[in-house]
Amino acid sequence: MKYQDRPLVQALQNFHNRKPVSFHVPGHKGGTLSDLPSAVRQALAYDLTELTGLDDLHEPAEVIKEAEDKLANLYGSERSFFLVNGSTVGNLAMLYATVQPGDCVMVQRNAHKSIFNALELTGAIPVFLSPEWDDPTQTAGTVSLKTVKEALKKYPNVKAVVLTTPTYYGIINRDLEQIIEVCHSCSLPVLVDEAHGAHFIVNDAFPTSALELGADLVVQSAHKTLPAMTMASFLHIHSQFVKVERVAHYLQMLQSSSPSYLLMASLDDARYYAETYDEKDYESFRLYRSNVVRDLCNIARIEVVETDDQLKLLIRATGHTGYVLQEALEQQGIYPELADLYQVLLVLPLVKARDAEHGIDLVDKFKIAMEWIEGKEATSVRFNSFSSINFTSTVVYTATQLHRMDMEWVSMQDATGRVAADAIIPYPPGIPLVCAGERICQEHMKQMQDLLTSGCRFQGAINGKTKQVKVVLE
Ligand SMILES: Cc1ncc(COP(=O)(O)O)c(C=O)c1O
Repeated sequence: MKYQDRPLVQALQNFHNRKPVSFHVPGHKGGTLSDLPSAVRQALAYDLTELTGLDDLHEPAEVIKEAEDKLANLYGSERSFFLVNGSTVGNLAMLYATVQPGDCVMVQRNAHKSIFNALELTGAIPVFLSPEWDDPTQTAGTVSLKTVKEALKKYPNVKAVVLTTPTYYGIINRDLEQIIEVCHSCSLPVLVDEAHGAHFIVNDAFPTSALELGADLVVQSAHKTLPAMTMASFLHIHSQFVKVERVAHYLQMLQSSSPSYLLMASLDDARYYAETYDEKDYESFRLYRSNVVRDLCNIARIEVVETDDQLKLLIRATGHTGYVLQEALEQQGIYPELADLYQVLLVLPLVKARDAEHGIDLVDKFKIAMEWIEGKEATSVRFNSFSSINFTSTVVYTATQLHRMDMEWVSMQDATGRVAADAIIPYPPGIPLVCAGERICQEHMKQMQDLLTSGCRFQGAINGKTKQVKVVLE
């Protein structure tokens, strides 16, 4: 079979066709020594390494370069990289490439933990920006232009801005283009964690990609929404502020020197999938989705919440938590992406015209799940409106400094004015109210008290039972 326009996939196939005898790594020798299930063993025949004709991820000059050039061409970047350790490594590399130890960096409070890890590793000092609360989904959304402008006034020495859009739930930062303009006018690079938006490129009906809106560095988990293998991701750069060579330098330090060819081939294939996704394909996806939404809405006590990203659907069972709905669906063999107090999150398949039959009995399974739920006692699920989570603040001690300090537990009354030893995270909404190393102010305490009284659970440096907070000894 010819894999036209997928140079890396084609190179792997050509190599395989020659029936090569392996005296090289990996040790499974083309799967022949493996006792894994036979389908996996067959795939291992393609699990190759940097052999003649297969190029080198860290010095790409042949097929990997060709494949990455095609990727850059599709997304309109200056250079695009294949990542074999998820958006996680992309977030680490983009921060390493952009900031120096001691630099201030604006970062969204509800960023992924890889961003917080990157801050710790680089020794950058975070300035936390609060996201807006998104009532329809009952989740933390994105950061507004107003918040960024205020933070720029308060912290004029920041060196970069790191944003997350879309969120896990598919909420888009509608101010992104303006935020980028404002930041660029202050010579600040904007780094975007677009882990959940690799598919935006396929059709105008999806939100516009951050790269198209002018972001400097953009990370995408191709494996989350495009047909790539788990971990396989993209990093794109198009910047007058950050050098391509620095990104390449950190990626070769942070990623394996033996990157998986299966992952890389799946990235080449995912790029091709996105590139060849045409109007007919989108029309079949649109139809598939609208049928699912219509039929689910027709089930009694099912509520469907749509977000900015058509690939995401939130489903609620009235009077029951998302966890109960998840349990009921899993009994029917339907596995949602996640559940929270209110809902389950479905990540729909980005079907093409040829395969619009995916999960064809989804709605029937939902009906059976709802029959099971009817027999369960209803819970009263209280919806929240977090109007006043708006703090823009920085840390007193960086994560590295915190690790060297002693800690103590103090009563909540005595915690005001002290520095939190760890993040204090109410669930929901799951955004740190106080981040590790921040000084706890009266407003924080008031919100903590209110949330505890309303029965909210906490994670991190707070013990809800003893009403104590873990602080550092200064
Ligand atoms: C917003 C966000 N960024 C980054 C990541 C990490 O992505 P990966 O799993 O590709 O390493 C995730 C994972 O869920 C995420 O939700």
